Amino acid sequence: MRASLLRSAGEALRRTSSSAPRRSYASSAAVPERKVAVLGAAGGIGQPLSLLMKLNPLVSRLALYDIAGTPGVAADVSHINTRAEVAGYMTEEQLGQALEGSDVVIIPAGVPRKPGMTRDDLFNINAGIVKTLSTAISKYCPNAIVNMISNPVNSTVPIAAEVFKKAGTYDEKKLFGVTTLDVLRAKTFYAGKAGLPAADVNVPVVGGHAGITILPLFSQATPTGNALSSDDIKALTKRTQDGGTEVVEAKAGKGSATLSMA
Ligand SMILES: NC(=O)c1ccc[n+]([C@@H]2O[C@H](COP(=O)([O-])OP(=O)(O)OC[C@H]3O[C@@H](n4cnc5c(N)ncnc54)[C@H](O)[C@@H]3O)[C@@H](O)[C@H]2O)c1
Repeated sequence: MRASLLRSAGEALRRTSSSAPRRSYASSAAVPERKVAVLGAAGGIGQPLSLLMKLNPLVSRLALYDIAGTPGVAADVSHINTRAEVAGYMTEEQLGQALEGSDVVIIPAGVPRKPGMTRDDLFNINAGIVKTLSTAISKYCPNAIVNMISNPVNSTVPIAAEVFKKAGTYDEKKLFGVTTLDVLRAKTFYAGKAGLPAADVNVPVVGGHAGITILPLFSQATPTGNALSSDDIKALTKRTQDGGTEVVEAKAGKGSATLSMA
């Protein structure tokens, strides 16, 4: 079996929570302790993602790791008055400390696309980064749920899987390629065309996370609104598949999707 794709936000934390003992009364003691590590926390995705994790009531400890800039991000995020205790880690020597005891590890470390690049063009740099980080995960938190954001996701997930297999820690139920963004795009574009509120629609998306491997199933979208022609569906499919490129071009050399991704 292959590792799964994480199509819905918060799914990883809910999965860890579902194995926790359930209690029938409401108190802060009923919320389990959960440590989340963000690797690449000072980047375009890493910063808003760290903010969102700090706001998530399911998170009790937040470890922010990057090779540059983490102390500032950690200090900044730590001032938000929510439950999670924040710590920043910067050198590779501190990677183990950042990972130790983590229930969920989220990886947005690596270089993003520039105009004219495909996700495959990122392989040479990001493959090495993901290999290093995955090796450390297998050593310091082998039971963590791992959410891979670094592109090309279609390749970085298999790299992590191979590292974990070699270390004897691979569990296909705990390694995810994060493709939630394809779902957000499919929902937003479908809602616009069907004349429905964007927050109320559901569009299944299967496949991978690059060009034609992204397969939004508009025939299964709910609820149904304005009737869509096959030309409409072709156009919606292409826009969903090219959504990342739309952002890369609009940012004109200043990176790819960061806020919607986080
Ligand atoms: N899965 C998706 O849907 C999706 C969407 C958008 C972008 N991405 C990918 O996410 C990645 C990050 O994008 P971004 O816009 O945040 O890029 P960015 O350049 O803004 O941030 C990347 C961060 O990673 C850090 N980094 C580099 N090497 C590292 C290492 N060895 N260990 C820890 N941190 C390291 C950098 O210092 C930087 O802070 C890219 O590969 C991009 O293609 C994925």
